[in-house]
Amino acid sequence: MIDNETRIPIWLDTDPGVDDAMAMALLFAIPEYDVKGISAVAGNVELSKTFRNARNLTAFFGRKDVPVYPGAEKPLFRAPRTAYFVHGENGLGNVDLPESDAPVEQMPAWDALYEAAKAAKGELVLVAIGPLTNVALALSKHGSLPKLLKRIVIMGGSATYGNATPAAEANIFCDAEAASTVFQCGVPIVMCGLDMTLKTVMSPAELDKLGELNPVCKFLRDAAQHGLAYSQAHGIDGMALHDPTAVLYPLYPHIFSAEEAGVVVETKGTITYGKTVTDLYSDKQFPFKNALVALEVDKPKLFETVTELLSKYRS
Ligand code: RIB
Ligand code: CA
Repeated sequence: MIDNETRIPIWLDTDPGVDDAMAMALLFAIPEYDVKGISAVAGNVELSKTFRNARNLTAFFGRKDVPVYPGAEKPLFRAPRTAYFVHGENGLGNVDLPESDAPVEQMPAWDALYEAAKAAKGELVLVAIGPLTNVALALSKHGSLPKLLKRIVIMGGSATYGNATPAAEANIFCDAEAASTVFQCGVPIVMCGLDMTLKTVMSPAELDKLGELNPVCKFLRDAAQHGLAYSQAHGIDGMALHDPTAVLYPLYPHIFSAEEAGVVVETKGTITYGKTVTDLYSDKQFPFKNALVALEVDKPKLFETVTELLSKYRS
């Protein structure tokens, strides 16, 4: 039995999103996590859809008690950039979910996150698995927020190549100015970037096997089919568990290996906009270490943990 004293207060910022959906299913399956709130941000699809998806997923996973807040409709300065080609028109592989009848929260994400951080008295762990617009707005509006966040775990970035451009990973590329604000805010950061997440590809056969576990897993398998076709057409035979890794990291750091680094986000480049420049492989080091950069993952252990957690849902 986990007592409330030892549970980890968690806030999830997300742009669901098919891999975000699996990340949310895992989040709610971990009893050590005390989920204080969810906030939606424009990213994979428009905010109206990510907000609706976050609400419906929270209800579908049996957690209507967790409030879901609307966030930014667009990046700080750039035009929105969606990823229908991976996540489908509705953001969940065009698989429908029942509409949640939970109250529709009106408070903006950046204020709700701040209120939760104050209430958690410095213990709140923020997991951000979409563009970092909401987080940057919260940091800009509430100057004391950095002192109230214990750690920020993001899915985003790359110490090598990108997936949105040759230089940049999608979440950072969507809003590099927001990401730059986050990396400079002084809160300890864990960067679950492509260097590690591209080593987490679940094959179609493994997805099919997972889908047999229960209706939640069947939904996750069905929602993944749209993006699978795109991935396979681009040389990846399966679904990378990008966002699930960031949700698992706070309680299962031993599944991953990470190195301390200085990380700076490029916001001015034309070719390099959105690149997370790290000093991992450079003899010229930045004068600071602001992030733990995840580089490796124990894939069998990761899949075992994902399967064990997701099998908790009712069959
Ligand atoms: O690069 C992968 C990231 O971009 C994931 O968070 C995915 O959901 C998309 O938002
Ligand atoms: Ca995402």
